[in-house]
Amino acid sequence: MGKLSVRYLGLELKSPLIVSSSRLTSTLGYIKESEDSGAGAVVLKSLFEEQINQYVNNIQPVTSYPEADDYTAYYIKSHSVDEYLNLIRKAKELVNIPVIPSINCYTAEGWTGFARNIQDAGADALEINVFLLPTDRKQTAADSEKIYFELIEKLKKILTIPISIKIGFRFSNILHIIDQFYMRKVEGVVMFNRFYEPDIDINTLEVVPASIFSNENERRMVLRWIGMVSAQDLKIDVSASTGVHSGADAIRYLLAGANSVQVCSALYEKGIPFLKKMNSQIETWMDQKGYSSINDFRGKLNYRNYKKPLAFERTQFMKYFSSED
Ligand SMILES: Cc1cc2nc3c(=O)[nH]c(=O)nc-3n(C[C@H](O)[C@H](O)[C@H](O)COP(=O)(O)O)c2cc1C
Repeated sequence: MGKLSVRYLGLELKSPLIVSSSRLTSTLGYIKESEDSGAGAVVLKSLFEEQINQYVNNIQPVTSYPEADDYTAYYIKSHSVDEYLNLIRKAKELVNIPVIPSINCYTAEGWTGFARNIQDAGADALEINVFLLPTDRKQTAADSEKIYFELIEKLKKILTIPISIKIGFRFSNILHIIDQFYMRKVEGVVMFNRFYEPDIDINTLEVVPASIFSNENERRMVLRWIGMVSAQDLKIDVSASTGVHSGADAIRYLLAGANSVQVCSALYEKGIPFLKKMNSQIETWMDQKGYSSINDFRGKLNYRNYKKPLAFERTQFMKYFSSED
């Protein structure tokens, strides 16, 4: 075990830094570059249910026979799927770090069968990126959460590889939902996804994409929950995602209790080899503090271990603006 090694989803990673699901993990070239730059693992670009369906729906009927149209749709679906499975197989031949494919899904109905093909292709684990945008005002939080649970239960019946669920942070009670994942024997949770969001351009009066890349201030939405979740008696690994732009950011998440740390925006901006610098920043800090392994300090500042746990609970600013502060 090297100085930076960690265990995540039962896998040994030589560094806590994982290249998170994005275009940066969509080709063999990027995957190899990630390994060469010191990544502990890669999460492949998600196979998007929405993306494939849209593609399928754009195809004009080639015959007047519905059966033939279904066949065309099936062919296109399985073709994208085959490309994805090939990427997994070839990545497994090419690199020694764990390869974690990702599926983006919206329902408990889709993709469960396909997950088995991913496992058979040699995946080390599977990350599930469930994105449910509640647009129906009659749908309750419990209705949405049920979709996660049904999906997990289905996947758990057919997969033997570990599963991690990548979630957004908009739940009524994050601790409860992660507890429910744990009860269903999910091995890991990725906290958090950072979704594509709309913004408004007041000059053109158009709805435009908000910045797709994070900045390190976004850590503020993540740190509390990693510190709280890692302090629970849950045998579920936490992978931090959002706002990691330096080795120092990764250290913060590890101190809060993350088992691994995913990086995306920083690598888009600085290139995949920036991982080398991040690893060396972590090592230098560990040397300064006298830590010889990540386990020496992981979780040291979580909700349970930090001397002032109320720091994680505090949500209001009253004291901040009073004369006491
Ligand atoms: C261009 C781009 C593409 C992404 N594609 C995916 C994806 O396919 N699946 C996924 O789960 N997350 C995807 N993400 C989200 C990232 O994996 C990551 O969770 C998010 O960007 C937050 O991490 P960061 O602050 O390091 O960027 C994408 C992010 C970006 C910027």
